[in-house]
Amino acid sequence: FRIAVFASGEGSNFQALAEAANTDTLGGAKIALLVCDKPSAPVVRRAEQLGIPAYVFKPKDYDSREAYEREIVMRLEELQVDLIVLAGYMRLLTPVIVHQYRGRLINIHPSLLPAFPGKDAIGQALAYGVKLSGVTVHFVDEGMDTGPIIAQRAIDIVSGETAESFAQAVHGIERELYPTVVSWFAQGFVRLEGREVTVTQADT
Ligand code: GRF
Repeated sequence: FRIAVFASGEGSNFQALAEAANTDTLGGAKIALLVCDKPSAPVVRRAEQLGIPAYVFKPKDYDSREAYEREIVMRLEELQVDLIVLAGYMRLLTPVIVHQYRGRLINIHPSLLPAFPGKDAIGQALAYGVKLSGVTVHFVDEGMDTGPIIAQRAIDIVSGETAESFAQAVHGIERELYPTVVSWFAQGFVRLEGREVTVTQADT
């Protein structure tokens, strides 16, 4: 079972997935490719250190989003990628990828969706003053953080919580939840019919 991870930044989720694959806690899944739209992103160095192949591109070199996405799809097909895992990939996908990989394309978002979609969900939650937030793993559709939900974990926001302490709590949960959900896919536990998600034989 081969996954491709798309990331634009730090890559802590990428690292957690790679470590899970190396310690055989990713349900037998392997990371076949990192896709990154930012050559200077720290995640590119992490891939080098881990010996994971990377496809790094600059969107500016292409006429349209569709043009670079077609190129990405070619590489995914060459490698027979089973699942696309977005981990801090800061671009909306077009139907070129979304249609072809429907049911095989997931994202992690640092809030309890549908609350606080879009950028800086952690900051949005703190600014609103909610007392409970969390992490969501969901299928990707054409919208921004609107696809069917696969798994969620809640986190209390305690009094005196700072942006830093809350972000740390969120990232800690992400590093556990994302490898767990990917392992469910690798074991064939997750199904999508319409907008309905079924997870079998796993503690959701
Ligand atoms: C994570 O908080 C994820 O939820 C969001 O982007 C961030 C990526 O962090 N989609 P990293 O690059 O994996 O460290």
